[in-house]
Amino acid sequence: MFYFKKNLLLIGLSIFIIVTIVWYNLPKITPYYTQLTKARISMNIDLQPDSQKKSRFVGSHKCKECHKEEHHDWQNSLHSKMIQDIQKNPNAVIADFTKLPKDADFTLAEAIYTVGSKFKQRYMIPATINGKDDFRLGNYQWNQQTNKWQNFKPYKYWYKDSYPHDNKNFPTSNTCDGCHFTGYMSTGERVEPSISCESCHGPGSAHSKDPESAIFKASLSDPIRTNEVCLQCHMRNRDKRIETKKMTAKKIWMSAKDYPHGYEAGRPLIDYKLPAPFTFGQETKEFWANGAAKKNRTQGNEYVHNTMYKHGITCINCHDPHKLTNTAQKPQGNTACMKCHTFGSLIGPHQNSLEEHTHHKEDSKGSQCIECHMPKTAKHTGKSPLTVRSHLFSFTYPAQTKAYKMPPETNACYACHKNKTLDTLQKNLKDWGMLEWGKLKPLL
Ligand code: HEC
Ligand code: HEC
Ligand code: HEC
Ligand code: HEC
Ligand code: HEC
Ligand code: HEC
Ligand code: HEC
Ligand code: HEC
Repeated sequence: MFYFKKNLLLIGLSIFIIVTIVWYNLPKITPYYTQLTKARISMNIDLQPDSQKKSRFVGSHKCKECHKEEHHDWQNSLHSKMIQDIQKNPNAVIADFTKLPKDADFTLAEAIYTVGSKFKQRYMIPATINGKDDFRLGNYQWNQQTNKWQNFKPYKYWYKDSYPHDNKNFPTSNTCDGCHFTGYMSTGERVEPSISCESCHGPGSAHSKDPESAIFKASLSDPIRTNEVCLQCHMRNRDKRIETKKMTAKKIWMSAKDYPHGYEAGRPLIDYKLPAPFTFGQETKEFWANGAAKKNRTQGNEYVHNTMYKHGITCINCHDPHKLTNTAQKPQGNTACMKCHTFGSLIGPHQNSLEEHTHHKEDSKGSQCIECHMPKTAKHTGKSPLTVRSHLFSFTYPAQTKAYKMPPETNACYACHKNKTLDTLQKNLKDWGMLEWGKLKPLL
């Protein structure tokens, strides 16, 4: 009897050990398999729960009653600070108004809201435009990176033919507020300043009254669709109406919209958004010829080119949607990548160690994944330093930087080795046997 039990025990123990060994040797990507292999649904399907359809926007204070943790995380993130009321919080002003140039068309006393704080700050001033109570922008913006005031002409973008070239008659409602105020995108009402709960979860009156009533959560859908909640804002676009060839920016005079007007979290973004155009090999005002960003707010335009996007990795795999971890201020270093990647694994890097892959010492800056795979290719303003990291996640070879006529500083190798030429750096890579990818991906 005892002999039999001992045998069972041994068998049980062996199975346990084998399972543990197998478990620890599974590729790190394994826990993501259900996400990656989730069935794809059509881009046109409305994912907003029916019970949410008649809901109104209620504001984050309501959600706070039951979701303290999410509220706390969100309040400490920059999403909650995008638009700040100067009366309520005078400290939100980061500019030195004593140095505001004499030809400025606004004063601090006139400004109601600050826009931004990290890289640059702009100011919203009440104005009646087109017969409607609206806001305009001051003709100077504060550049936080250079600590200087600099000229600002908000009408200079793709919609330059849709608006007068005059800050005093250029409204923020159509070209800014949809992305910076909660609720404005679909209702045309500034329900709450900044990007709050309902920007990503949709209107919440029904759910707040009865928590059993469903509210949209992006991660429940297929991964391609999960991203849409971020792409509504983090992707450059055009007014959907100019999709048809006959429509031009001129014809939508005073009404051109620079955000997916009518969209609410869960609805099919494709019905509302026309992404900024791009063709590989052709440089535009917004993108280099390899698809890398020249401007900020392009994460989505870049990311859709990457294999990770196509295979189901989402923005929220790398960024906690409430804390917004994984930024230059809250970095996770190589851990951000190595929670899925393993050296010598199927998804790469295919070499067996960090040093074999990067050809830099393990503790060198040259062994940081993002330094090579997310080089700084873009600026926040024409006078800002290069700070915006690319979300293409590819590697742009020095020879490609040259072929695409990109400034050498946008090349990862050159950014750290300004004493070498692009040709020398290309040769280094050749000597390391690291040109395979360039052959497979001639355009990236
Ligand atoms: C009266 C309390 C209450 C209020 C107010 C409330 N919630 Fe909830 N919420 C809950 C409860 C309880 C759950 C868990 C329900 C469940 O697990 O089925 C929940 C779940 C959720 C979920 C997860 C849904 C899912 O499918 O997993 C989200 C997202 C959410 N709430 C967002 C919000 C937002 C945004 C607001 C404000 C507009 C809000 N909640 C207001 C109680 C509340
Ligand atoms: C930038 C977009 C965004 C904002 C803003 C945002 N959320 Fe979320 N929230 C998400 C996403 C995406 C998820 C799904 C995360 C996941 O499954 O990993 C989520 C998940 C949740 C959940 C479910 C958590 C769980 O364990 O399933 C709750 C509850 C929630 N959010 C409440 C809130 C509240 C309350 C606010 C405002 C204080 C808020 N969210 C603001 C995007 C956002
Ligand atoms: C309604 C528009 C909107 C939506 C939706 C949105 N964002 Fe943002 N996001 C912004 C704006 C505007 C800023 C700049 C905030 C600032 O500087 O105060 C920002 C900033 C960020 C930052 C940088 C924060 C920092 O500390 O530097 C990250 C990361 C980010 N968003 C990720 C996401 C992700 C991931 C999602 C989707 C889950 C998302 N955002 C959805 C508008 C949006
Ligand atoms: C399609 C959505 C969208 C529109 C329209 C939009 N923005 Fe933003 N804006 C964002 C996002 C997302 C970010 C943060 C991501 C980034 O900068 O890469 C941002 C960043 C900014 C920042 C920098 C924030 C900081 O903390 O440094 C400022 C300032 C700003 N926007 C002002 C404006 C103004 C003014 C307009 C209108 C002329 C405008 N934006 C239109 C989405 C938008
Ligand atoms: C594979 C991981 C990964 C994915 C996927 C990813 N990001 Fe990032 N993102 C990062 C890292 C890492 C950084 C911070 C780099 C640094 O330390 O400066 C970053 C930075 C950012 C920033 C801050 C930019 C700035 O200049 O401060 C924004 C905004 C952002 N990501 C938005 C997004 C959005 C939106 C998506 C989805 C379209 C996305 N990211 C997908 C890894 C990722
Ligand atoms: C949530 C998991 C996950 C995270 C986090 C992640 N990756 Fe990936 N990555 C993948 C998967 C899965 C693939 C494989 C795609 C395929 O099938 O080729 C991949 C592929 C890649 C590729 C090859 C892409 C191509 O175009 O062939 C690069 C480069 C890459 N990742 C870089 C990074 C970097 C840099 C980070 C950190 C900032 C990172 N990854 C974070 C899952 C992840
Ligand atoms: C983030 C900064 C950074 C990046 C990006 C970077 N390097 Fe380096 N590199 C260094 C540093 C620091 C050293 C000093 C030795 C070390 O840390 O291994 C170095 C050393 C080297 C060396 C050996 C010493 C020398 O100067 O000849 C070569 C060759 C080199 N890098 C080439 C490259 C190439 C090619 C790339 C692009 C694939 C690249 N580096 C990307 C920082 C960087
Ligand atoms: C010094 C620059 C550099 C750094 C740092 C770097 N990589 Fe790479 N990576 C490359 C180059 C170059 C390629 C293309 C390789 C080729 O063509 O053979 C590449 C390719 C890849 C690929 C595609 C699959 C493969 O093996 O070819 C993945 C995945 C990847 N890198 C992930 C990472 C991760 C994760 C990190 C951080 C641990 C990282 N890389 C750090 C330069 C770098």
